[in-house]
Amino acid sequence: MKKALITGITGQDGSYLAELLLAKGYEVYGLVRRSSSFNTERLETIYQDPHVTDYRLRLVYGDLEDGSSLANLVKKIQPDEIYNLGAQSHVRVSFDVPEYTVSTVAMGTLRLLEAVRGLGSECRFYQASSSEMFGAAPPPQNETTTFQPRSPYACAKVFAHQICHNYRDAYGLHISCGILFNHESPRRGIPFVTRKITRAAARIKHGLDKKLFLGNLDAKRDWGFAGDYVQAMWLMLQQDKPDDYVVATGESHSVRELLDVAFETLGLDWKPYVEIDQRYFRPTEVDHLHGDATKARTKLGWKPKVGFRELVTMMVRADEADVSAALSGRAPQV
Ligand code: NAP
Ligand code: GDD
Repeated sequence: MKKALITGITGQDGSYLAELLLAKGYEVYGLVRRSSSFNTERLETIYQDPHVTDYRLRLVYGDLEDGSSLANLVKKIQPDEIYNLGAQSHVRVSFDVPEYTVSTVAMGTLRLLEAVRGLGSECRFYQASSSEMFGAAPPPQNETTTFQPRSPYACAKVFAHQICHNYRDAYGLHISCGILFNHESPRRGIPFVTRKITRAAARIKHGLDKKLFLGNLDAKRDWGFAGDYVQAMWLMLQQDKPDDYVVATGESHSVRELLDVAFETLGLDWKPYVEIDQRYFRPTEVDHLHGDATKARTKLGWKPKVGFRELVTMMVRADEADVSAALSGRAPQV
């Protein structure tokens, strides 16, 4: 049985990846950081009682801020594959907490790489690189596009990406970097624009909210479905040679178009409900991300299954089901 260690297992991607690896027969170790409130909500459908015999999902305490916890875990688990998904992943927030963001994203990756280097084994490593690294570079962006990062988060991801290249070359480690464009799902964190909009549409429809406050409606993103994107992560680590891959749908849409589809799904016009609030603008914005995933398609045989309209509709429906459940006193669906 293969063993995988996932940092960021409690996040959106971590939960989908854990499901995928468990379905493939892996023993999955998930790094969970200590929190004063429960942070394992997204794992509820796959959580297993540690006392049952075929227990294959193991949650272990650790933190990307704490190099010794990483070194101890890697040594103890001896994973075949590591997926480094843990991060302070909100771009706007990275301007408020730049040092912490750089510490988890950049230094956290370095700490984990050092733990792997110390292992001296064949362990394969996936790094969650980001399209945000392209920043101001004009679209379409692919693996050869020069990075022009526009936030502390993006600068930290560029460092993490490049230190992965260095460790790959210097120590012959099997490290692959997935440069993933935005990917979303009903499990997306509420402060990201897709979920903020789909959740607000559902709440407005049912009379729970009257307004939705947003920032820049003209930004364009290449939005895909997280469930499709974790497949690409796994495929990267099944290749003989480590490499970098852009993962994207090849279609981009504005926040305005997202509003159109989300509110239309519930038979609403968004314009009377949306107001602009300066607090949601970034000091430096990334205007247009549009990925070219030709390499992932040809070398990994990967392609997205869920398109933009289907994705937004799926998210609105899930949020509406949650709102209806909450109103009728039933448990939420997500
Ligand atoms: P997410 O939902 O924000 O999840 C982030 C995860 O990182 C959570 O499990 C979080 O734990 C964990 N984490 C935060 N700080 C940590 C620390 N100090 N030590 C250990 N774990 C820590 O992010 P996501 O959307 O799943 O994205 C996964 C990864 O892909 C991130 O690295 C992100 O930057 C990158 N990425 C995401 C996208 C996208 O569109 N989703 C695109 C490109 C790249 P808590 O639950 O305790 O907060
Ligand atoms: N979050 C948010 N909230 N974004 C808003 C809002 C708002 O109220 N109003 C407009 N936007 C715009 C942002 O300015 C940005 O241009 C766009 O919506 C998308 O914002 P987010 O959903 O926060 O995502 P992101 O593109 O900044 O970052 C996400 O994708 C990256 C990959 O490109 C995150 O998942 C990153 O972790 C990831 O690396």
